[in-house]
Amino acid sequence: MGVYASLLNIGSQPFFEVPKDFSADLDSLLLEPGLEIGPASYEDIAEIYRLENEIEGNYGADFATITARWRMFRAGFLTARQDGRLAGYIESCLWDRRLPYFEARPDFFASRHRLGAETLYIIFIGVAADCRRLGVASSLLAAISRVGRYYGARRLQAVSRDHIMPLYEAAGFLPVTAMPDFLPEPAVDFMLMEQSLL
Ligand SMILES: CC(C)(COP(=O)(O)OP(=O)(O)OC[C@H]1O[C@@H](n2cnc3c(N)ncnc32)[C@H](O)[C@@H]1OP(=O)(O)O)[C@@H](O)C(=O)NCCC(=O)NCCS
Repeated sequence: MGVYASLLNIGSQPFFEVPKDFSADLDSLLLEPGLEIGPASYEDIAEIYRLENEIEGNYGADFATITARWRMFRAGFLTARQDGRLAGYIESCLWDRRLPYFEARPDFFASRHRLGAETLYIIFIGVAADCRRLGVASSLLAAISRVGRYYGARRLQAVSRDHIMPLYEAAGFLPVTAMPDFLPEPAVDFMLMEQSLL
């Protein structure tokens, strides 16, 4: 990580501080025993990068991209730890777009992120294969909705692979519109899902 950090000129000095009362708000979530959710730290990024690649393979974000997303909006980049081990994470930004789109470059979300925007967009949510169907993703979605409310967002937005839609629906999201060309993944359809925070 030190090599990456120096190559990319990325220090551990945060670009965006996480407000203290915000972390206390997350502590009040009722979580599964042993599960802890909180803002990712710089030290978490290498582990997140490894998990992203386990989950997404060739589609996974590279280290620079994950670091850029963390620096952009630390309060919107959460980890879930089960008895200390990284079980899952969620990345988000605040933006004004009604229809999401995506370009694979490190500064894509950072260039669109705006504090005060009305929509909290979930960039990615991932859970380690052996921690699935235990409520980790649902807990991360509950936590990110707290983030959205804290920052005054009016809605949460996510683009879901079709087969994952029940996860978002269980969390209170509704399907908005099909997005067939969202990512170039063969034989996968995508759906824009939204949850009102009003
Ligand atoms: C999708 C993913 C994040 C779900 O994480 P998880 O921690 O297992 O989800 P939860 O345990 O909170 O699931 C809650 C509910 O969501 C639904 N759900 C979760 N995963 C699902 C799946 N693969 N297919 C269908 N429904 C699913 C179920 O209704 C589930 O309730 P149940 O277990 O009582 O049936 C995880 O499978 C993952 O990382 N997948 C690969 C990455 C990915 O596709 N990310 C989403 C980007 S669109």
